[in-house]
Order: sequence, then C-alpha cells, then structure tokens
Amino acid sequence: MRRPAAAEDALQEIVTVTTHSEAETAAVAASLAACLNRGDIVALEGGLGAGKTAFARAVVRAFCGPKTVVPSPTFTLVQIYETPNLSLWHCDLYRLTDVGEVAELGLDEAFAEGLTLIEWPERLGDGLPCRRLHIRFSSGAEDDTRTLVFCGDARWRERLSGFGGEYA
Ligand SMILES: Nc1ncnc2c1ncn2[C@@H]1O[C@H](COP(=O)(O)OP(=O)(O)OP(=O)(O)O)[C@@H](O)[C@H]1O
Ligand SMILES: [Mg+2]
Repeated sequence: MRRPAAAEDALQEIVTVTTHSEAETAAVAASLAACLNRGDIVALEGGLGAGKTAFARAVVRAFCGPKTVVPSPTFTLVQIYETPNLSLWHCDLYRLTDVGEVAELGLDEAFAEGLTLIEWPERLGDGLPCRRLHIRFSSGAEDDTRTLVFCGDARWRERLSGFGGEYA
C-alpha cells in the first residue's frame, strides 16, 4: 500500500465555482491571476475540452496583456511567457509519454522560479508537487457550464479566502 505524503493528505477542497461561458471562466482566471506569484504551481485537471486552456489563456493575458496570443502547447508541451517580474510557463503534458522527458523540459526550474500552469498534470505522477493549487474542471449538464473545484493545502486556503464568492 502506498501511503500518500502528509502534504498530499492536506490537499483539500477550498472553493467550487460554476461558470456558464468561456468568458466567465476567463474572468475567474483573471481574478485568480491577481493572487498568483513567482514559484506558484497551478495544476489544471480535466477532460478534453473542459476549459483548461481557456483558463490558462486568461491567466497569461492577465500578466502579459489582453492581446497576447496564447496557443495550446499541445505539441510543444511548454510555452514560456516572459514578464518583467517572472517567467510564466504554460504546459500541456497530454503528449508526455515518458516521465523522463520532464527533466528535458526544465520543469524543476519553472517550479522553483517561475509561475507554472500545467494541463494534464497527472502525467507527472509522483513528480507533481504537493504545494500546488489544483483545479479540477468538469462539464455540467448544459453545454457551456463548467465546474471548477479549487483544492490546495492550508496556505492556499488562506491565500484564497474570499476568492470566487461571486461565482459560487
Ligand atoms: N464555461 C466554459 N468555460 C470554458 N470553456 C468553455 C465554457 N463553455 C464552453 N466552453 C468551450 O469549451 C472549449 C474549452 O476548450 P479548451 O481548449 O479550453 O479545453 P481544454 O480543457 O484545454 O482541452 P484539452 O485537454 O483538449 O487541451 C472551448 O471551445 C470553449 O469555448
Ligand atoms: Mg488544453
């Protein structure tokens, strides 16, 4: 039996948000962006078309400007955006087949010094840091409805106190 690390035990639900359009998801992402700093890791988990890239795009635009072109890094795996204060890494690990590739991507550097957004974070297995903010995306009964469950440790709970109230 594999016992989860203590920090993993501490990953608890913080807030659940429901959105009814891509624009609403982008607004939630923009308000989260205002709380994010260098060294933060945000895991975006959910199926195909759940809204992970839509969310990441809005975070990047909050840091780099509203007209920033933000492609889905499905084939490049990583796209890096330089801002005056930090490097913002947008990762899509869907096509990661070998965890050994992770070292080549330089994710350790991103985790230490950048701000990292990761789609398909489960591809990292045990390499996914426990200190992350973890957001689970799922589709609702209606086409444009998405549920976003924000999870994290006690530090994230404190940092996000009051966050998302208007969308809950
Ligand atoms: N409430 C919503 N929030 C986000 N996207 C929505 C919403 N309603 C509809 N959409 C649509 O769902 C799609 C989400 O696509 P997106 O590329 O963000 O998904 P993804 O989770 O990144 O998928 P993939 O795993 O393929 O990368 C877009 O076409 C978007 O317009
Ligand atoms: Mg995507």
